[in-house]
Amino acid sequence: MKLLLINGPNLNMLGIREKSIYGSMMYKDIMRGLKQYASANGVKLTVYQSNSEGKIVDKIQKAYKRFDGIIINPAAYTHTSIAILDALKAVDIPTIEVHLSDVNNREEFRKTSYVSLYAKKTIMGKGKDGYYLAIDEFIKQS
Ligand code: DQA
Repeated sequence: MKLLLINGPNLNMLGIREKSIYGSMMYKDIMRGLKQYASANGVKLTVYQSNSEGKIVDKIQKAYKRFDGIIINPAAYTHTSIAILDALKAVDIPTIEVHLSDVNNREEFRKTSYVSLYAKKTIMGKGKDGYYLAIDEFIKQS
C-alpha cells in the first residue's frame, strides 16, 4: 500500500514552535519514526511538507492514481483552503485528516475545517500519535 503524508505550513517547525501545544519532538524525527513504522508494516510512506498552498494543491494533483491513501495535516490551511478541499475531491483518494492539537478546543477560527468536508476521518488532539493512528486505519481497511 502506498500512502502520501502531506504536512502544511509551519509543521516543519515542530519541536521549536509552541511546544506546549505541539510537543518537543523535532519534525524530522517524527517523520523518520513514521516512515520506519510504515515500512515495518508493509506500507510505502511518502512524506511531503510545504508552507505554500499552491504547492500542496500540486502535490495532491500529482498523487492522482499514484497513491492508495492520503494523510493530511493542512495546518493553518485547514481553516481557509477551499483549494485544498477541491484538489482532494478531484483526485478522489481516501483521505484522513490529522491535527496534533484538539482544534475544537482552541480558538473559534480553528473549529472550521474545509478538509473535513472530504476526509473520511479526522484524528485530533493525540499529538504525533495521530499520524500513527491514521496509518493503522489505512492498514485496517486494506
Ligand atoms: C494544526 C492546528 C492548526 O490550527 C494550526 O494552524 C497548525 C497545526 C495541528 O496539527 O494541531 O499549524 O493543524
